[in-house]
Amino acid sequence: TLSPIDTAKFVAAKRAVEFVEDGMKLGLGTGSTAAWMVRCLAERVRDEGLKIVGVPTSTRTAELARSLGIKVISLDEAKWLDLTIDGADEFDAELNLIKGGGGALLQEKIVATASDQMIVITDAAKEVEHLGAFPLPIEVIPFGWQTTKALVEETLGSMDVLGQSSTLRMNGDVPFITDEGNHIVDLHLQRIGNARQLALVLNQVPGVVENGLFIDICDKVIIGHGDGRVQTKD
Ligand code: A5P
Repeated sequence: TLSPIDTAKFVAAKRAVEFVEDGMKLGLGTGSTAAWMVRCLAERVRDEGLKIVGVPTSTRTAELARSLGIKVISLDEAKWLDLTIDGADEFDAELNLIKGGGGALLQEKIVATASDQMIVITDAAKEVEHLGAFPLPIEVIPFGWQTTKALVEETLGSMDVLGQSSTLRMNGDVPFITDEGNHIVDLHLQRIGNARQLALVLNQVPGVVENGLFIDICDKVIIGHGDGRVQTKD
């Protein structure tokens, strides 16, 4: 039997996979909730002989999908996707998101943007009135990262946010390295006043490759609950 949190993730994932149709090209998200989705998808492929291909958003997801018999292709091979299903770290009433807790935000944003539809699967704890309690990840190139980090902090000083400290994400004693060979800086903002503006401004700083704000990208959020109930927002 599953714990309440795993039940929530599983039922959300299972519901999302019902939107998958034969022949679709799918974006496969990253994280523990997305991993449930990959398992549910693999089950449909096995049981129904569903013909789908998946574009993974991380090496982790690629390995999981392949190991379960899902055909994995690159985004360039797929060119365009019908549907991406992914997790998130926070979502608000407008279905704007913070992503990147798992460090895969860059590929996740590229893949979601290249999809006709994005469905986010989540548990209820990630719903917020204002984004920002979860540290906002930005992906920065290693060259001059300390300068980039300082410049981002300075930029935050003029933005509608509560905090402006930031930390380099570590993997034990060494900086975390993304699938694209970059670092992650987590921004501790507490509350983001204007997420749309912040997303644009952050990407103006040289050295910042991408930020974890997903604005107007998600079409539907499927929320799983510990008791097995599922709720949809779109
Ligand atoms: C990965 O980079 C993230 O964007 C994940 O989608 C997010 O962190 C959610 O992960 P969990 O499903 O494990 O909470």
